[in-house]
Amino acid sequence: MPENLPESLKQKLSERLRYYEEIGVGQLYRDRVGALPAQSSEIPAPALALLSEVEEPSLPKRETKTVPPVTPAPSRNVLPLSREEASSLFQPVTKIENDTLFKIREDLGDCKRCKLCKTRHSIVFGDGNPKAELVFVGEGPGADEDEQGLPFVGRAGKLLTQMIEAMGLQRKDVYICNVVKCRPPQNRQPERDEVEECSPFLFRQIDTIAPKAIVCLGATAAKTILQTERGISQFRGEWQEFRGRKLMATYHPAYLLRNPAAKSEVWKDLQKVMAELGLAVKRKSS
Ligand code: URA
Repeated sequence: MPENLPESLKQKLSERLRYYEEIGVGQLYRDRVGALPAQSSEIPAPALALLSEVEEPSLPKRETKTVPPVTPAPSRNVLPLSREEASSLFQPVTKIENDTLFKIREDLGDCKRCKLCKTRHSIVFGDGNPKAELVFVGEGPGADEDEQGLPFVGRAGKLLTQMIEAMGLQRKDVYICNVVKCRPPQNRQPERDEVEECSPFLFRQIDTIAPKAIVCLGATAAKTILQTERGISQFRGEWQEFRGRKLMATYHPAYLLRNPAAKSEVWKDLQKVMAELGLAVKRKSS
């Protein structure tokens, strides 16, 4: 982006670029600006009504299981980056024996590994059940999260809470964290070096929690974890594999705030997750 643009315009431009990325548009051409994709008319009616109809899921008992070896398994269904591209993105973390969230947080310390430390107020490590069967991974803290030190507590977070509750769970049942633990200034996308420094902590969190399923919220989380450059719309809603675990990528709640019609797509994705976790959806009897 040219340096001499006013700050407000830069912000608008980067928001617009993020929007296109969320819907899977990876390339923009200057001579075709008028031909940018319109909102799909095929998107079914918003799922919000549907979300408010679910109640009383039966929560299955968590089984004890052995954590599989953690050399990252190749992700299925996803076109990976070349070996050079992938290995330059971040170094895969090998499983650390007897690791705990507490140790990971201690190792993170008062992190100064990347430039995000200069502008953050809090390190937003993650929150929820350390033995959760379901882990949600977002992109990075926003202003509210930076202020409170907790993930997904702003507007997008409130929508995420509704989504979790519509699945018949509560926030305390799941674990919520982000790819980067410190807020990127102006909520810009985390940069490669920031992701590189921070993602080993995310991988340790996932290994330690050993969830049955991971939901990646938005393109940044999905692309970081799956090491792909494909647009999220090309693989969202399809089960992927990450370190021997099931991973579902779906749209970010912030995207849903801008595009409520996409809620129905996300709800379909979450229903697949519910089926995987054995969460039954009961409709209210009238
Ligand atoms: N968006 C994210 O990706 N993470 C948060 O914690 C909040 C908003």
